[in-house]
Amino acid sequence: RKRVALLISGGGSNMVALAQSMTGDHPARPVLVLSNDPAAKGLARAAEMGIPTAVAEHRPFKGDRAAFEAALLEPLLAAEPDVICLAGFMRILTPDFTGRFAGRMLNIHPSLLPKYPGLHTHQRALDAGDTEAGCSVHEVIADLDAGPLLGQARVPVLPGDDADSLAARVLVQEHRLYPAVLRRFVTGDRTPVIL
Ligand code: GAR
Repeated sequence: RKRVALLISGGGSNMVALAQSMTGDHPARPVLVLSNDPAAKGLARAAEMGIPTAVAEHRPFKGDRAAFEAALLEPLLAAEPDVICLAGFMRILTPDFTGRFAGRMLNIHPSLLPKYPGLHTHQRALDAGDTEAGCSVHEVIADLDAGPLLGQARVPVLPGDDADSLAARVLVQEHRLYPAVLRRFVTGDRTPVIL
């Protein structure tokens, strides 16, 4: 079975959805949950599920991305992952780091890419008057929130929505989309999943 490492920064709900999907006859299994924030709630959730966890804090490195990434690499390489899933991981990675895992690192982003890379995606969709929103899973390349699309799920924008209500509606779909994409990806199938 393919070994999957999951990188998180916060609540880790996508990590939980992915980990819970990797049971039974699933061709992959979670081998590490790695966070840049020791306070990330997802660390405890991973531990409850029996997944090894590690922390590589970015704060002590104060903008020295290379040093931070060296700290990230230590537990990550030790886990010998076949696939790395960024799951609410909120640090920008250098081309050196992303290049090392080219073709085997995935990210989920809360917009219908190529719309709204970066932050505040839901507010930006509302401000633009979009009638639909959604989430995307893509292969990670050097450019932020770019790279071949592996799946998308759409939701309506409803009257009265604010960024929080829209984010919650999108997050439900993230939890369906990411496991569906991962299952395909680990079998070598890169056909986009459209939900
Ligand atoms: C998710 O909505 C994910 O798409 C987003 O952060 C949230 C993490 O939630 N990711 C990004 O914005 C990446 N730049 P989670 O920790 O509960 O999975």
